[in-house]
Amino acid sequence: MNAVAGTPGGPSLLVTHIGELVTNDPGADDPGADDLLGLRTDAAVLIDDGLIAWVGDAAAAPAADEVLDAAGRAGLPGFVDSHSHLLFAGDRAEEFAARMAGTSYAAGGIRTTVAATRAATDEALTAQVARHLAEMRAQGTTTVEIKSGYGLTVADEARGLRIARDFTSETTFLGAHVVPVEYAEDPAGYVDLVTGPMLAAAAPHARWIDVFCERGAFDADQARTILAAGAAAGLRGRLHANQLGFGPGAQLAAELGLIAVDHCTYLNDADVAALAEAGTVATLLPGVEFSTKHPYPSGRRLIDAGVTVAIASDCNPGSCYTSSLPFCIALAVREMGMTPAEAVWAATAGGAAALGRTDVGRLTVGARGHLTLLDAPSYLHLAYRPGVPLVWRTLGGLPPSAVRDFR
Ligand code: NIG
Ligand code: FE
Repeated sequence: MNAVAGTPGGPSLLVTHIGELVTNDPGADDPGADDLLGLRTDAAVLIDDGLIAWVGDAAAAPAADEVLDAAGRAGLPGFVDSHSHLLFAGDRAEEFAARMAGTSYAAGGIRTTVAATRAATDEALTAQVARHLAEMRAQGTTTVEIKSGYGLTVADEARGLRIARDFTSETTFLGAHVVPVEYAEDPAGYVDLVTGPMLAAAAPHARWIDVFCERGAFDADQARTILAAGAAAGLRGRLHANQLGFGPGAQLAAELGLIAVDHCTYLNDADVAALAEAGTVATLLPGVEFSTKHPYPSGRRLIDAGVTVAIASDCNPGSCYTSSLPFCIALAVREMGMTPAEAVWAATAGGAAALGRTDVGRLTVGARGHLTLLDAPSYLHLAYRPGVPLVWRTLGGLPPSAVRDFR
């Protein structure tokens, strides 16, 4: 029996006097409620057996085993970070410094991390994942997707996903991250490895399959082959695409009806129209543009065209080493033409949409009791006060015990 109130098997928990609550439930019936975020004022949330059992006015709240008084603070669904690469060892701080001095980002840097990751012990990799998840949790994230992609051997990809699976059900096989150096002269042989023995070893530990579809990584034909093999093994597809330049990835994602395509830094009008038509979520990763000095894509353009937008961290040691969704929200507002409400929606409900989840990213009856409380009166402060540790409590989600043990 888990003794923590509000978690599965624990006592029920009433969180009350939430000054402003983002529910992402446009049906929330407060007068003047913001349509997108389903805002409520002086609200309360009852969490029972890990699930939301009731949402409404604090004055009408039901009884519970335990009560947490938010004393007017703002609350929102825990962030859903639908894109991260936490299975890595080493760092590339020097590469970042060189970039800030004018060197450009190249996909080849991935190989530096591959060497360090292969050399790491299982214990070191596990501790590394836990440490970053603890950072994320402290910044309000409750659901995280984790990709492999720095092992690039059958054994290293499988062990990474095995480790990640202990922390999250949202694991992604990214054997097609880059062609490793030992296959530099035989990329077709590497695709055979990825679609054959590597996929077979990875599939039991993964929910998704991803391909870095970009010049310098894998082309559209290779991506198609790899995603088809993944689908045959029961994995759902997603893509890294249009990160470093215009290319075929976004349209391929739309054509295949993928749930999400991530990066989307360089999109032409036909790409945007294809994503809107297909209902493929565009996951924007503003920390990458911050850290690589590529131009920020316009979230405004995508939203206005009817594309569903998610925001995620892409936490990785090369192109973007942040674990902070509040930071990404602030960037999306400042640099991508998104309103604070759109950015918060994208980092909660949008992330859930990118993972095909309806049980997270919203505070509605039956959804998971993943609730982030801010030491601030409004969600607006996430963008208004960039770089400030605003998260007061993160309830539910990422296994707190596993994460805490490694902190
Ligand atoms: O999402 N784009 C490909 N992969 C990562 C970067 C990996 C790295 O540079 O180590 C990304 O940006
Ligand atoms: Fe990525």
